[in-house]
Amino acid sequence: MTLHATQPAPSPRCAATALPAGMDAAAAAYFLGGAGDEITLRANERAWRSIGWLPRVLSTPTQVDISTTLLGQRWPTPWLVAPMAHLRLAHPEAELGAALASAVQGAGFVLSTQATVPLEAVADAVRAEPQRGPLWFQLYPYGGREDWWRLAQRAQRAGYEAIVLTVDAPLQWPSAREQDAGFALPPDWPQPNLPAAAPRGTLETLLGCALRWDDVAWLRRRLELPLVLKGVLHPDDARRICDHNLGDALIVSNHGGRVLDGLPATAQALPAVLAAVDGRRCVLVDGGLRCAADAVKALALGADAVLVGRPVVQALAQDGARGVARFWRHWRDAFQATLALLGCASPHETRSVTLIPMTDAT
Ligand code: FNR
Repeated sequence: MTLHATQPAPSPRCAATALPAGMDAAAAAYFLGGAGDEITLRANERAWRSIGWLPRVLSTPTQVDISTTLLGQRWPTPWLVAPMAHLRLAHPEAELGAALASAVQGAGFVLSTQATVPLEAVADAVRAEPQRGPLWFQLYPYGGREDWWRLAQRAQRAGYEAIVLTVDAPLQWPSAREQDAGFALPPDWPQPNLPAAAPRGTLETLLGCALRWDDVAWLRRRLELPLVLKGVLHPDDARRICDHNLGDALIVSNHGGRVLDGLPATAQALPAVLAAVDGRRCVLVDGGLRCAADAVKALALGADAVLVGRPVVQALAQDGARGVARFWRHWRDAFQATLALLGCASPHETRSVTLIPMTDAT
């Protein structure tokens, strides 16, 4: 399998989040759907497109260096694949193919607790790649504290470099699209990283298992790895994380509009979170980023890095690992070109770009 993509670059339009025509309709509904009326899902994409820029002329850099520092380490790019469950539904190469292709292209990867491949297999493949990005493990707090603590330790032993604790999804239920399409996981679906005590049953059972602030403090005290809190939108929560040292980084995220509808777009929430954090922690953002220009806007607003979800599923579904490698190569080319056109020699320099509202965004 060749992971270094060689196909000619496609037109530089933003990736539409459509899945291949032959894909199972129920699986497509699972990947693309959002909570409620999908207002947040749509707002995420629109918000990036409603940002424009006003660059200065005659200041093109002679070189563009897109490497970046995250959690004290230097990495080739400021982007990672967002944690996503059940990637085997998109393509048999699943999380392993997506992670390896991303590593070859210098992108980071966050493996979901609900991956269909053992976390050790992904770590072994990715860590052998010299130009890779960060490798983090996303933890869902299934079961009791000891269950998820054991899972975090397992990820640490395998070589993951941070634990990403998802704090915005204490309850999940199928979206209207999934229900309409009759989505259900096939019997004997592989979930090799899930603690035996994954939550099932009534609302009361699920509420009883929900993560709370003292759980985060408990995990933080025991964990040797950096802790990243994913799903922060409110500036007061961001301030609390910094003031009480509850994490090393946070991800401004609304779970891609999949959990609670009516949340603000992440591009809209990001500035207030950045102001509350005030440089004390690394801040990442995800949700609705569909092309490299969106990533440049996120960095220009002040994010340290971005995570990308559905477009990676789309690339995986189209052509497995090869599709993902191709996706990231085009993304990188477009990102570098955009930085150059904005007069920026590095991701950090985007912070001095003048951003303007785009009133005619589609
Ligand atoms: C997700 N997301 C997610 N988040 C998480 O913390 N753990 C998980 O297992 C999953 N699973 C998952 C499955 C699918 C199919 C999607 C689309 C998303 C949310 C994900 O990490 C991220 O926050 C969003 O996907 C970002 O939005 P975009 O890029 O998909 O618009």
